[in-house]
Amino acid sequence: MRTRIDKAPTGKPCEVCGFVENLRETGRMFFLVLRDASGKLQVTVEKSSMPALSAMCAELSPEFVVRVRGVINENTYVKLGGREMVPESIEVLSKAEPLPLQPDAHIDTRLDHRWLDLREDKNLLIFKAQTTLSEAMRSFLLERGFLELHSPKLIGAASESGADVFELGYFGGKAYLSQSPQFYKQMAMAAGFDAVFEQGPVFRAEKSHTNRHATEFTGFDLEFAYIDSFRDVMALEAELLQAGLRAVAEKHGADIERLFGIKTVVPLLPFPELTLRELYEKLEVIYGLQTPPEQRGDLTTEAERLAGKLSMDEYGHEFLFLTDFAPEGRAFYHMRDERGNPLGFDLVWRGVEITTGAQREHRYERLAAQANERGLGEDVKFYLDFFRYGCPPHGGFGLGLDRLTMLLLGVTIKEAMFLFRGPGRLTP
Ligand code: 4AD
Ligand code: MG
Repeated sequence: MRTRIDKAPTGKPCEVCGFVENLRETGRMFFLVLRDASGKLQVTVEKSSMPALSAMCAELSPEFVVRVRGVINENTYVKLGGREMVPESIEVLSKAEPLPLQPDAHIDTRLDHRWLDLREDKNLLIFKAQTTLSEAMRSFLLERGFLELHSPKLIGAASESGADVFELGYFGGKAYLSQSPQFYKQMAMAAGFDAVFEQGPVFRAEKSHTNRHATEFTGFDLEFAYIDSFRDVMALEAELLQAGLRAVAEKHGADIERLFGIKTVVPLLPFPELTLRELYEKLEVIYGLQTPPEQRGDLTTEAERLAGKLSMDEYGHEFLFLTDFAPEGRAFYHMRDERGNPLGFDLVWRGVEITTGAQREHRYERLAAQANERGLGEDVKFYLDFFRYGCPPHGGFGLGLDRLTMLLLGVTIKEAMFLFRGPGRLTP
């Protein structure tokens, strides 16, 4: 039975499997470094006492996959964890051709060979950290009674806006790829589920070539009922992120700092918050950013980036909530105050938007009017029906998991995603 390297016992026979990371031959010895997803182990073969195994080692090359049986001993001279395995047998499970990829290759070349690129320690850590992050956030919500949803991604009408939607053939008719679980998590509110979340694929037909846009990404979405205001939603998100980042800091903080040179900061509560008007005033006064009045109702790319700097400079905090967006740029389903302003927010982390959230309009007449204003009519009729037979007040947000991972490690979205999808990439 194979044991993972990090769990392999010392002092008694065991079996480990993995890739040959490194192979070194000296006059008397072969040193082999074996790698699995849990860690690395040195395998030491003495030529004089193990002629058969030495012959075997001479046939190996880096990235061969092998099974090694033997006994692991403590040896303080071994740099790799102070342990080495003295093998009884080495078996080749898979041979490897020389790799076509250099570690410093261009990102697009790396993505062409993503399965090889992911063998780098750094890249493995990205997914370990992401697993910890999403699992901690999931546990946080489960403890608070949230249900986990799996809503359909094949849908009959655009879910977020008519723009940026992928259309596909569907048995002679048309279907669309979901741009957000928005409508369905709200349906769960109308169904009386109280609190729901979903981690799932989100599709956006955006032809953006930036370091933070993908055409398919993972959304971490939630929605909950009986809120008094969108501030309840913001407060929950801050706690959720704190829990997620705490888990990452505890489990991977040291490795992240070693491999990515970034400190994982567990954010303090509450997160600072500004209205857009305050933001633009401060950006002008402090950094001299000029923004024309007609752009101040939404977050410009430059303001988004500087919001990260402002938050650190003014509050010593990596996060910043922004409120009081103009209605034009916000979804029709956001609830509005008496003056018609949306009761929603964005959250910026390290200078990048990671969330849009809001209290939703749950009153049928108003929601229908807001949909009409945008000319949405027939397309959203099925959605509007959710609100005709009783629906609690509710709110929620969409959090981009890939953006979270990318910012956590200070990499681009192409590097942070298992397999990036963008306007120019559908393979591997
Ligand atoms: O801001 P978005 O579009 O909001 C919604 O989907 C709404 N249903 C949420 C709401 O309550 N109004 O998307 C949510 C988050 C963004 O903040 C961002 O983190 C991420 O999803 N995101 C993307 N991530 C990668 N590539 C893209 N093209 C993204 N578009 C949005
Ligand atoms: Mg947004």
